[in-house]
Amino acid sequence: AAPLRLGLAGLGTVGIGVVKIVQREAALIAARSGRPVTITAVSARDRTKNRDADLSGYAWETDPVALATRPDVDVFVEVMGGHEGPARAATEAAIAAGKDVVTANKALLAHHGQALALAAEAAGRTIRFEAAVAGGIPVIKALTEGLAGNRIRRVMGVMNGTCNYILTRMQAAGLPYETVFEEARQLGYLEADPNLDVGGIDAGHKLSLLAAIAFGTRVSFDAVELEGIGNVSIDDIRLADEMGYRIKLLGVAQLTGRGLEQRMTPCLVPAASPLGQLQGGTNMVVLEGDSVGQIVLRGPGAGEGPTASAVMADVIDLARGFRVPTFGLPAADLAAPVPARAATP
Ligand code: NAP
Ligand code: HSE
Repeated sequence: AAPLRLGLAGLGTVGIGVVKIVQREAALIAARSGRPVTITAVSARDRTKNRDADLSGYAWETDPVALATRPDVDVFVEVMGGHEGPARAATEAAIAAGKDVVTANKALLAHHGQALALAAEAAGRTIRFEAAVAGGIPVIKALTEGLAGNRIRRVMGVMNGTCNYILTRMQAAGLPYETVFEEARQLGYLEADPNLDVGGIDAGHKLSLLAAIAFGTRVSFDAVELEGIGNVSIDDIRLADEMGYRIKLLGVAQLTGRGLEQRMTPCLVPAASPLGQLQGGTNMVVLEGDSVGQIVLRGPGAGEGPTASAVMADVIDLARGFRVPTFGLPAADLAAPVPARAATP
């Protein structure tokens, strides 16, 4: 069978992880997909950088838009990041050129998901983004496939590993926020703009994507009530501890009588609960469906292997010819969400 040919934009943590899996597991992927999966061309900013992977067999494109529109690319894999600039331009160009898209970019979809999904559908294409939410945890597939027969009641969880690391380390070592923040920086856990992590924005992006799928609504990141962890003090953590609680940056999305509530805020959770026990950079997502009840998914929310694992799951779906609409429903059928806070006096 004809190979599925990838154009890979971004050769950082995630991109190199994808290269490694494509190369190491070529036979397994071909067997599972019914066809080989190959990389045709790659793109990054600096061609001279040593990248700990053999890229010699791939064409190089300096411009991600040129990569995304190459005739010998079937699927555009966007792992550059950023919700404007080249990530957005190249994704739009890929769709216009009739390519499917696989992305790990939650910021791009939180800001432009509806427009991109509409464009993809108009072109008979889809955008897959398993890696964008909770890294290696297959939560998008759980919602769009495994729980497709359910009405989702609530989506909840810890979706930013860096914040979870900071909060658990503060609690375990009795260290103040500023000290642990600096540790996280030294360890390379923080995004280039740390406010994306500690301001709750990254986790808010992820929650808005899950809420769109869960409740059949257009992505509405602007309606997420956001509060980061920058104001959580060691005294707050000690007090919570004394009462048998942990403080977690917890996302909750649910339909209430007033509309769709989306919150990403520091919350008290019982110390003995699965959320309270969640350590370090791990993520946990709790899904509640009317028929299934409660499902708890826990695992690595970031890193080369886990995130590339999720990218490859989407790639293999496309190689198999399996397509679901970007947000689980045709984009034109997604409802305009009524933010719950709009009804709050
Ligand atoms: P990264 O390590 O910073 O790598 C980004 C890559 O994109 C680099 O290779 C960079 O090129 C390239 N790039 C950036 N701007 C570019 C431009 N204007 N033109 C061409 N190439 C450009 O980032 P990452 O951690 O792999 O993350 C990539 C995406 O995955 C982001 O959307 C991120 O939010 C998402 N994600 C990451 C993780 C994770 O654990 N890292 C987890 C889930 C989702 P140079 O190498 O030449 O600088
Ligand atoms: N900064 C993110 C986190 C990376 O800490 O969870 C994965 O999206």
